[in-house]
Amino acid sequence: MIYNIAIDGPAGAGKSTIAKKVARELSCVYVDTGAMYRAMALYLLRRNVDRENPEEIGEVCQGAEISIEYKNGEQIVLLNGENVNPFLRREEVGNMASVSSANPKVREKLLDLQRKLAASMSVVMDGRDIGTTILPNAEVKIYLTASSLTRAERRYLELQEKGLSCDLEEIRKDIEERDSRDMNREISPLRQAEDAVLVDSSEMTIEEVVKCILQIFHEKVILSDEVGKNEG
Ligand code: CDP
Repeated sequence: MIYNIAIDGPAGAGKSTIAKKVARELSCVYVDTGAMYRAMALYLLRRNVDRENPEEIGEVCQGAEISIEYKNGEQIVLLNGENVNPFLRREEVGNMASVSSANPKVREKLLDLQRKLAASMSVVMDGRDIGTTILPNAEVKIYLTASSLTRAERRYLELQEKGLSCDLEEIRKDIEERDSRDMNREISPLRQAEDAVLVDSSEMTIEEVVKCILQIFHEKVILSDEVGKNEG
């Protein structure tokens, strides 16, 4: 049986950490759609596009071919054949991604790839519009959030661990700007799908969130499958 778990939410809510762990527990594949938008942003940065010019972004993005490979369970994003994973988590790439992902041409290019991945195997897919647009029929939908201060603190620690210098207030400002761009754009804005379960992780540990999502999966997929078999 193929099933899909969609996890959406704002920047720094912990989606990727949580989604990876849930996928490992269920022995299915984790699909990080943010990394695809980041790869596209990297391409646009390398091509020096004007981020204020949507027409230019829409045109230049046509030159980027993005595909995904899995090596030892790790998602590798290929940009025109090059493994660009090492560059994707940079702050400037994330900021550009939140600008360029509002572009319909950029979204169009990635939508197909994401739907095909989810149709071919069981996945935990995280992003902004997975439950609302990409996989409206996902068996499990989670909207994972946390307060903007908590999210900024998490991102701050993540950067510090990597030895990068950063400023908490600046990160918080960046996160709030990014949220507002993601939530207020015209195409596929970030919002909770009607049938998504809201999980606020501000006061929860990673393990608690993973457990909570596995429980929701159990109720929605395993139990309902058993009920269906008994009824049938
Ligand atoms: O890890 P973080 O939450 O900071 O960002 P990400 O998930 O890597 O996504 C980077 C940017 O790509 C986001 O700010 C969104 O604007 C965009 N994105 C999107 O529009 N749709 C998705 N399905 C995933 C990401």
